[in-house]
Amino acid sequence: ILASALLAHMASGHMVMNLPTPYTPEKASTFPITAPGAGQRFPYPCQGMTDVAFRTPVTAGSATLVNFTGAAPHGGGSCQFGINYHDTTYSTNPADWKTIYTIIGGCPADTKGNLEDPAHYRGLDPEGRPQAVHCGDDKGKDCIRQFNIPFPKGLKNGNASFAWIWYNKITAKEVYMTCAPITITGGTEEQGFVEELPQMFLANIDGYTNCTTSTTGEHGVFNIPNPGKYGVQLIEPDPAAAGSCPVAPPAPFAAAGGSAG
Ligand SMILES: *[C@@H]1O[C@H](CO)[C@@H](O)[C@H](O)[C@H]1NC(C)=O
Ligand SMILES: *[C@@H]1O[C@H](CO)[C@@H](O)[C@H](O)[C@H]1NC(C)=O
Ligand SMILES: *[C@@H]1O[C@H](CO)[C@@H](O)[C@H](O)[C@H]1NC(C)=O
Repeated sequence: ILASALLAHMASGHMVMNLPTPYTPEKASTFPITAPGAGQRFPYPCQGMTDVAFRTPVTAGSATLVNFTGAAPHGGGSCQFGINYHDTTYSTNPADWKTIYTIIGGCPADTKGNLEDPAHYRGLDPEGRPQAVHCGDDKGKDCIRQFNIPFPKGLKNGNASFAWIWYNKITAKEVYMTCAPITITGGTEEQGFVEELPQMFLANIDGYTNCTTSTTGEHGVFNIPNPGKYGVQLIEPDPAAAGSCPVAPPAPFAAAGGSAG
C-alpha cells in the first residue's frame, strides 16, 4: 500500500514556487532536491537551475508575493524563505543562505493530504505541472496558499538569489528548494545585517547535513530550528516530527510578526 501510494504521488509531482519567477522557469520542478530514498531528485541548491528568464525587483522594507504550483502539498508543512548574495552563480555552501522569513505549519497549504481529487485538481499548467485550487490568500483551507513575504529593510542592495525551502508534513524525509533571481533596492549598502541572519535550516540532504526529519504523516508539522525573529507559526508543531534533527524550542516570532498569516 505504501509503495503504490508513493508511486501515485511521485507520478503527479509535489510543489514548486512560481513567484518570484524561478530560475529556468520552464524546467523548475515540483520534485524534491537530493534526499535519501527513491524517486526523482534534483541537486542542492536550487535544483541546479540557473537560467535567468526574469529577475524580479524587490524592495527592502516591503513585502513580495510568493506563489506556488502543484497539486500535492502533502498536508502542508513548514518552510523558510531566504537569500544568497553572489556574483555569477549562487553559493553551494549552506552557510551562505540566510533566512529572512519562516512559516511553521500551513506552508503552502492546510489540508489533510494532497489536492488531486476532482473537487480540487485544476489540470496541468503549460509546462505539464499539476495544479490545484488556489486560496488567493495566506489562510484558506484545502487550497494552495500564497504569502506576502516581508523583505527586511536592512538587506543589502543588489542582485541575489531568493529561495524557498520546504519540509512537508507527509514526507519520505524530503526537502524541497526553488530559487529565483531577484534585485533588491531600497535597502542598505552594508553586509552586516545579512551576516547576522540565521542560516536556512537543512535536513535530509546527504553530504550537507547529518539529520533527517520524521518519515511519515503520523506526526504533525516540523518546528524548524533557529528560524530567526521574522516569521509566523500557523500550526502548533509536533516534537516527534523532528526525526533525528534537533527539537527546537518555541519559535521566537513577535506576536504580530509578519504579513503571512
Ligand atoms: C498562483 O499560481 C497559480 C498556479 O500556477 C495560478 O493559477 C495563480 O493565478 C497564481 N496567483 C498569482 C497571484 O499569481
Ligand atoms: C543584475 O543582474 C543583471 C542580469 O540579470 C545585470 O544586468 C545587472 O547589471 C546586475 N546588477 C548588479 C547591480 O549587479
Ligand atoms: C556530520 O557528521 C560528521 C561526523 O560526525 C561531521 O564531521 C560533519 O561535520 C557533520 N556535518 C554537518 C553538516 O553537521
